[in-house]
Amino acid sequence: MPNDRLPQLHTASPHTPPVARAIEGGAALSAVRAEFPALSRRHGDGTYSYLDGPGGTQVPRATIAAMAGYLERSNANHEGAFPTSEESDSILAEAHAAAADFLGAAGPGEVVFGQNMTTLTFAVSRAIGRSLRAGDEIIVTRMDHDANVAPWLALEEERGVTIRWVGIREGDCTLDLEGLESALGPRTRLVAVGMASNAVGTINPILRIVEMAHRAGAWTYVDAVHAAPHMAIDVAALGTDFLVCSPYKFFGPHLGLLYGKSERLEQLAAYKVRPAPNEPPGKWETGTLPGEALAGLLGTFEYLARLGREFGGAGETATRREALAAAMATIQATERGLAVAALAALRGVPGLQLRGIVDPARIDERVPTFAFTLAGRNPREIATELGRLGIAVWDGDYYAYELIRALGLAESGGMVRVGFVHYNEPAEIERLAVALVEIATRTAAPSRSQS
Ligand SMILES: Cc1ncc(COP(=O)(O)O)c(C=O)c1O
Repeated sequence: MPNDRLPQLHTASPHTPPVARAIEGGAALSAVRAEFPALSRRHGDGTYSYLDGPGGTQVPRATIAAMAGYLERSNANHEGAFPTSEESDSILAEAHAAAADFLGAAGPGEVVFGQNMTTLTFAVSRAIGRSLRAGDEIIVTRMDHDANVAPWLALEEERGVTIRWVGIREGDCTLDLEGLESALGPRTRLVAVGMASNAVGTINPILRIVEMAHRAGAWTYVDAVHAAPHMAIDVAALGTDFLVCSPYKFFGPHLGLLYGKSERLEQLAAYKVRPAPNEPPGKWETGTLPGEALAGLLGTFEYLARLGREFGGAGETATRREALAAAMATIQATERGLAVAALAALRGVPGLQLRGIVDPARIDERVPTFAFTLAGRNPREIATELGRLGIAVWDGDYYAYELIRALGLAESGGMVRVGFVHYNEPAEIERLAVALVEIATRTAAPSRSQS
């Protein structure tokens, strides 16, 4: 994303707070898209549309270059007395520091890397479970991805913990906050909750939920996997005890990332080998970290920080934290336009039933992830037809296991899910809508065409 290919920011007075601009206009969006080599993939004679972001996003050149560079020059194990190991260790240290900036953590000691969010959550839940007693309570929700449910459910059997469920309001797929309030009690030890739904896109009022949990004396474990590609995260402002996300969902390599308040990471006993450090983050990072992936994540942060400087109003002197937060504000502003347009386009498809928040006036309560059914068609058939056209979408339950059941859709193949991120183009919404209208029209008139 060289500067000369992007519109320059207007000079702001030193007292004007930075204002994030959306990535709009052909030149700006083309420059951003050019950063992602995968986006130039062709499909037959046409283009390819990545609407599978909720399953995993594409990565910018900076990520690819950093991964290759690590493997070419600094590939070594930890704590050796030789230059490549020293270089590798400084990359690992820098990745922790940058991830702390991305999340708003106090420092690198609060950042733990692992294989993915699921593995980290099983590790932390086992460690928390060690101190729980029969009758202690954990709250989970029917909106969450199962990776923030199953690890806690296992403690029912292992430790005699009581699980309390918070449901959703089916009409708009929002969390039942009154249900949460009444589930909280003196025995509640932890509330496991998502920041945004990976199925229907609902953003949860996470600050309020953390406050409710803390008032009851419970810890919070926030799954921010689906929020991280769409909005700035500030763990200090949220006050959460834990927060997890997955870099491969926000333009980085396959990795998991856990934030834990330093006192929590220190006080809990981790399952670890004896020679491993006794302090966080090392005590939580079992075995050898994937150095090339951490290097790649540094490339992702470099890309995002540039986005924050060029569009987000973060000046050249802004800190990395400020630049990253500005990037996410730009991404949010960009996605707002995509969300409004996608909502209107999907609602215009005959027979399409969208679940979740569908009122355009409430667009700020959701991310641009949309799940729907189409009358008379199985979600897998629709995904397959779109896939043949070069439009990548998901179908099924995407492990939002309870949500799909709560909506009564488990037996009928779940829903089709399309997700937009900042590199998607308005033209891709149009392309999707045209394809869906064609599928819907063909479905609505099979007997006529067959007779
Ligand atoms: C909301 C949410 N939470 C958790 C996960 C699990 O993440 P990971 O693949 O890093 O284990 C996913 C993956 O799809 C997700 O979307």
